[in-house]
Amino acid sequence: MPRVVVFDEIGPPDVLHVVDEPLPEPAVGEVRVRIQAFGVNPVEQMMRTGAYPAPFRLPHARLGLEGTGLIDAVGPGVEEFSIGDPVILAAVPNMDINGTYAEYTTLPANAVVARPSGLDVVAAAALWAAYSTAYGALIEKAGMHPGDQVLIKSASSNVGLAAIQIANQIGAVPIAVTRHSTKREALLDAGANQVIATDQEDLVKSVAGVDIILDTVRGPGFADLAAMVKLGGTVISVGWSDPRPPTYPSAPVTFVNYMSFEHTLNPVMVRRIAAFLGAGLRTGALRPTIDRVFTFDQVIAAHEYLEKGQYLGKIVVTL
Ligand SMILES: NC(=O)c1ccc[n+]([C@@H]2O[C@H](COP(=O)([O-])OP(=O)(O)OC[C@H]3O[C@@H](n4cnc5c(N)ncnc54)[C@H](OP(=O)(O)O)[C@@H]3O)[C@@H](O)[C@H]2O)c1
Repeated sequence: MPRVVVFDEIGPPDVLHVVDEPLPEPAVGEVRVRIQAFGVNPVEQMMRTGAYPAPFRLPHARLGLEGTGLIDAVGPGVEEFSIGDPVILAAVPNMDINGTYAEYTTLPANAVVARPSGLDVVAAAALWAAYSTAYGALIEKAGMHPGDQVLIKSASSNVGLAAIQIANQIGAVPIAVTRHSTKREALLDAGANQVIATDQEDLVKSVAGVDIILDTVRGPGFADLAAMVKLGGTVISVGWSDPRPPTYPSAPVTFVNYMSFEHTLNPVMVRRIAAFLGAGLRTGALRPTIDRVFTFDQVIAAHEYLEKGQYLGKIVVTL
């Protein structure tokens, strides 16, 4: 029977274990995907450790909100995909039920997109969560234009690296922020126009008047961002990397709290995101950064590695 990673209680990485489950059957409008690889994301650590804000089922929770694989079966009414088509999963809103840490999952056909030709399985597994979030936040929500100065907090995060590339793809100017000057060269290599390392520089004194700030951190420094964005500019927040309570300023800037499901659960928007990312991959503007690849049997080690936080790029598990 197909193997699935589940956990029955909140806890450290070794609460994850592999069980055998019957092959799921696709319902009307659904497809079954044989997963070839999945990306490992901080939100899965949040769920495993009990920090996830929404309720989810326990015991027997699955994990995994992104992945890539082959169409293995199509449910009644599905015409746009055939068995064997390579796809990327665009939205897995109930990962505790149909998460991607598994040999198979089912989901609506409009929640998968064709895998761009030439994109290898590992890169495909690393693409969607980070790039759809950076695209949705910067282009659809913040209205980023060519020439805009875009400050990217924790630019070495996967969302941050994607944001650097997407800003460059449309001719905006990405300014990268990291806590560690040791990451400066890597961020310049990744396409940052400028890097501010906060172990050497004062962020508030270093930046003024940018058009957009993409924040993946929140926390106590959040209020300071208002001083760095131009009057009427946008601070868009997508993450919670700093678990401490954030402070919020009152300032004439637009604050946006962005959840990528706003776009990835919208089939029209999913096609638009896929078109944008496909174009960027074809020209080479977009290149997912891979830190390390684990095998399915090493999923606990993958979560231990995630918890250490020493990666730069995506942690991917292959099946
Ligand atoms: N809203 C959405 O739909 C959505 C979608 C995807 C991800 N997210 C969220 O966005 C955030 C980033 O996701 P990701 O996958 O890109 O993360 P990631 O790759 O795991 O990001 C790791 C980086 O975040 C920074 N960081 C970690 N802890 C920090 C702390 N306490 N204070 C300041 N910086 C810290 C570090 O950068 P430096 O060491 O360089 O400072 C680290 O290299 C996460 O909170 C994730 O849950 C949200």
